Amino acid sequence: MEYAHTAVLSYQLFFEALFCYHAHIANIGITVNIEIYMSTDNEKEQNPPNYRMSYRDVAMHKVMLQDVVRTDAYEKSINEVVTPEHSVLDFGCGTGILSMFAARAGANKVIAVDRSPFIKTAKEIAHKNGFENIDFYHDDDQSLQLDEKVDVIVSEWMGHCLFYEAMLEPLLAVRDRYLATDGIMIPAEVSIHAGLVCDEDLLDDLSFLSEQPYDIDFEPIAHVPFQQTDLVALDPESILKSTAHLGSLNMHTITKADSPREFTGTIKPNKKAEIFALCGWFSSELSKGVVFGTGPNDMPTHWDQILFPLAEPFMVDPSRELTITISPLTEQVGKEQCWSWSITDGEKTIRVNEQEQQQRVLLDVPQGKL
Ligand SMILES: C[S@@+](CC[C@H](N)C(=O)[O-])C[C@H]1O[C@@H](n2cnc3c(N)ncnc32)[C@H](O)[C@@H]1O
Repeated sequence: MEYAHTAVLSYQLFFEALFCYHAHIANIGITVNIEIYMSTDNEKEQNPPNYRMSYRDVAMHKVMLQDVVRTDAYEKSINEVVTPEHSVLDFGCGTGILSMFAARAGANKVIAVDRSPFIKTAKEIAHKNGFENIDFYHDDDQSLQLDEKVDVIVSEWMGHCLFYEAMLEPLLAVRDRYLATDGIMIPAEVSIHAGLVCDEDLLDDLSFLSEQPYDIDFEPIAHVPFQQTDLVALDPESILKSTAHLGSLNMHTITKADSPREFTGTIKPNKKAEIFALCGWFSSELSKGVVFGTGPNDMPTHWDQILFPLAEPFMVDPSRELTITISPLTEQVGKEQCWSWSITDGEKTIRVNEQEQQQRVLLDVPQGKL
């Protein structure tokens, strides 16, 4: 299994949302995940503590543009949906790539909105490429003022396992104010999925601190890796074949109030195995028939998967159906998105709440000698 040759190093800087640079160093077979929690708060986006970690930085946009699975799917969907009768609003336009796709597909008008000052650069790129019918607005969902409704809203708002970027609610607010009756949303539907991780190398990695490395007993923190999410790029052999669909959001009809905060589904394991973690990812139907996924069996994307470790190994068996639950927790501890997750076969249940763990870690410690 590829995981045997893979060391995952995570540098977690505690800002508000996660962005990941995923580099594979081929000759020594190491995959490095550098996770950067960046500000999603508007004030910080204007004046980020470190601009390399915000959407002001070209590096962030370059990674997204280099994700061809994502970007090609959006281009295909926009080409299939947008006609010259349509006006299009691109919410969170970044470099303006989706706005330019819409203009190229023939939209009569395109409105590009982003709260990042990077939008000035997006306007420059559009002009450089001769797109004159795109209007750029440096706004967020609350400050945006338009005097017209649009026929299509396109947005690439999805975070890791769907929920890391906290853009869903702002998007729904914009949809409710500005999408014409019978207007079109791209994506049209998004879904969350989970898999059962059976790769023993992963267990070795999670157990590192429990094994007294350097002859030091790390007991006070040895349990922590089993209670924290991580970003991983799993290969198909790391999970059991059977996976669970945990729910879908219809982007036309979902409201802020009924946006689920708990995703549950069942899996009949395809074989007997010991599993060490769950993993979660999303798939997206941008428009009819234009679909992409971000799971271990899909073409790799910059979203990778989120790993939800289990406090102890869990034996699964085809005769026992499992119920899996994954919940993005709305309250944020410090500035980090937390999750809770569980697995049960009816007899045994393992539940993990990352927030409880974070609360212990983020205790206020007075300055000076302890
Ligand atoms: C994932 S990026 C997508 C960028 C671009 N659409 C693309 O596909 O490459 C999300 C963008 O949404 C913007 N954004 C996030 N929350 C926003 C909000 N509430 N209002 C306006 N823009 C927002 C960010 O600044 C960022 O440029």
